[in-house]
Amino acid sequence: MAKQSYDVIVVGAGAAGLMCASVAGQRGRRVLVLDHSDKLAEKIRISGGGRCNFTNLNIHPERYLSANPHFVRSALAQYSQWDFIKLVERHGIAYHEKTLGQLFCDDSAQQIIDLLDTECADGGVTRRLGCAIHSVARSDDGRFVLATAHGEFDAESLVVATGGLSIPAIGATPWGYRLAEQFGLAVTPLKPGLVPLTFDAAEQHAFGPLAGLSLDIAASLGKASFREQGLFTHKGVSGPAILQISSYWQAGQTIELDLLPSADAHHLLSQAAHSEQKLSNVLAQAWPKRFAVQWLAAQGVADAPMRQLSPKTLSALAAQIHAWPIRPGGTQGYKKAEVTVGGVDTRELSSKTLMANKVPGLFFVGEVVDVTGWLGGYNFQWAWSSGYVVGGRC
Ligand code: FDA
Repeated sequence: MAKQSYDVIVVGAGAAGLMCASVAGQRGRRVLVLDHSDKLAEKIRISGGGRCNFTNLNIHPERYLSANPHFVRSALAQYSQWDFIKLVERHGIAYHEKTLGQLFCDDSAQQIIDLLDTECADGGVTRRLGCAIHSVARSDDGRFVLATAHGEFDAESLVVATGGLSIPAIGATPWGYRLAEQFGLAVTPLKPGLVPLTFDAAEQHAFGPLAGLSLDIAASLGKASFREQGLFTHKGVSGPAILQISSYWQAGQTIELDLLPSADAHHLLSQAAHSEQKLSNVLAQAWPKRFAVQWLAAQGVADAPMRQLSPKTLSALAAQIHAWPIRPGGTQGYKKAEVTVGGVDTRELSSKTLMANKVPGLFFVGEVVDVTGWLGGYNFQWAWSSGYVVGGRC
């Protein structure tokens, strides 16, 4: 089979890859998108509970984790959430803000996939799905040569858009990281992010009875703090506040949970001191009663009438409520993670073009790069922004 030539080959038909391909195609570049999966953009389809939280009104560079926190600034400025919202509106997709600036499709995530598909068609982009890539080499004249299950292809520019490691069941692979290494580029340590945390056996035994309970909490680790819902599970803790803090968490670290961020526990307890009320009934003014009972039991605190509890005990309890230390044993891993923290080292890439400094023509976009957004549309915005920037350069 004769080798087929293009200007640009994009590997990965996900959010960032399709965005990049459509922009490059509409510039007049001859673009080929390759994906080993049979389906287009599976992660978009399952995202946001099937409605795709496609961006956030409050995108800020500070809401991204990366070894170089300034790296995202240029791409986010070149293509912002407002630009993507305009594109969504141009395609007549109805959307709404759910909470904290998070924008979701009213109907279905499929609408975002259709938007990208239409934009690619407008750019004359060629696509090959179900196409395993066997190897990538560089010819003497600097072109990238890909041997694939569909034959050999070559191009002047190669864009790696293979995403992270989460949800291997729908096609995630480490291909992009390995390719970076093949070309001598560093990859920072990888770990699951936006992921439920697990307890070791002893903690799970103590806190297991709390499973299924959720409440408003603030989860903190160092300077990072998230005030959202927390959920106790059969394996540990989850819910938005925990998912957010999980991206910052390293094995062995302790996370502090404020279990009553909207009130002053000292005030609540001291008001009822000396009364006949049981401690759990006082706490049940702020918490679900079941949580109050189970949490006290898990702490080994007697659910006694308030008058039996000394001011010292109440003061210690109030402090514990506002800064309850938990020490997760681990995470639920890539099977349950929304993203991968870490990736192609940003020091290897130009922040303005996302091209590899030492390999002209080689670009990285989306989650494969060491950039991880908060929960709430931040990761798709990075895919759109980085995809757009490279689409204009590759
Ligand atoms: P993406 O993963 O989208 O695409 C990578 C593509 O590369 C895939 O099509 C894959 O098949 C292909 N590929 C991988 N290996 C390959 C190989 N060896 N050969 C060929 N092709 C290969 N974010 C957000 O902002 N809002 C949200 O609502 C959600 N919701 C959400 C839910 C769930 C369950 C998950 C797992 C994740 C989210 N996310 C999210 C995160 C978001 O989905 C993610 O950050 C983006 O999809 C990343 O876009 P990329 O294009 O970089 O990778």
